[in-house]
Amino acid sequence: MSTPYHIPALLTETLEGLHIRPEGVYVDATFGGGGHSRAMYGQLSPQGQLFSFDRDPDALAQAQTTYPDLFAAEHPRFTFVHSDFRYLSQWMDYYHISAIDGLLADLGVSFHHFDTAERGFSFRFQGPLDMRMNRGGGKTAADIVNTYSEEDLARVFYQYGELSQARPLARRIVKARQQQPVLRTEQLAAIALGENTLDIETLAPLRKKTLTLLFQALRIEVNDELGALRELLLSATQLLRKGGRIAILTYHSLEDRLVKNFFRAGNLEGEVQKDFYGNILTPFRIIEKGRTATPEEVQSNPRARSAKLRVAEKL
Ligand SMILES: C[S@@+](CC[C@H](N)C(=O)[O-])C[C@H]1O[C@@H](n2cnc3c(N)ncnc32)[C@H](O)[C@@H]1O
Repeated sequence: MSTPYHIPALLTETLEGLHIRPEGVYVDATFGGGGHSRAMYGQLSPQGQLFSFDRDPDALAQAQTTYPDLFAAEHPRFTFVHSDFRYLSQWMDYYHISAIDGLLADLGVSFHHFDTAERGFSFRFQGPLDMRMNRGGGKTAADIVNTYSEEDLARVFYQYGELSQARPLARRIVKARQQQPVLRTEQLAAIALGENTLDIETLAPLRKKTLTLLFQALRIEVNDELGALRELLLSATQLLRKGGRIAILTYHSLEDRLVKNFFRAGNLEGEVQKDFYGNILTPFRIIEKGRTATPEEVQSNPRARSAKLRVAEKL
């Protein structure tokens, strides 16, 4: 059996959280394999509209074969936008949409990214150190590993991987790249663990964890994932109608903390403002506070284990 492009996490819970108005205008900021989009679209009436974003052209190519019905000429209510979701406001202007009824962002990368060796997202496969979600441009993980100063590498590893050994890791990489450029996933994995070669299959769990966090940190830096998320949260808040909902699925504590604080305080700094009576001033009512997958879902889709669903409603 071929590996699926993606299996959507918390599908039922996300749909419940969005509480879709059939005639509303919705945005799926992260189309991926289209599972969430297809389900959202299924709840819309002929008056409803769905705009789905993805910055990876592979997502569009795959969607056209998996969901030909969405792209059929008689369904102009579905629009695929091949773009970074950070440009949500500009795209909504372009399509003359002044307000939306709901937005979903299922953050991070898809199974397709992790499972395709030549995309370079995973230390489980030998491949080029790329990690760009959109291979049309921008810096690769190899660019970062070979050009950032030791201090900047350590900052990336510490901030985005929360790796306590960020400094020695950066030092090892800088030393190794003086011999030859670090261009492959297997090369980086071996250097990070201070080995010449690695057998990934027999790696101890703690060492696997270090590599997972190191690769996560690089991926976040390559794709400016947190910067894009910040911009999305601000634009979505502006665009959402009163009563409209925003649902975000996060996969690690950095993005989860950002979304949690934003929903609570209504600003990126997470600074809570209070009125004269001590009530918190926020544009949102919290609907879901970090719902996780059921044990049954995790059993059938282990990658759903780290997913956390947060939903807020615009007041
Ligand atoms: C976890 S997958 C989404 C899976 C999807 N919900 C499904 O049901 O198949 C995340 C997708 O979002 C895309 N993505 C991540 N960050 C993005 C961004 N800033 N702008 C646009 N797409 C992004 C990735 O390319 C990836 O395809």
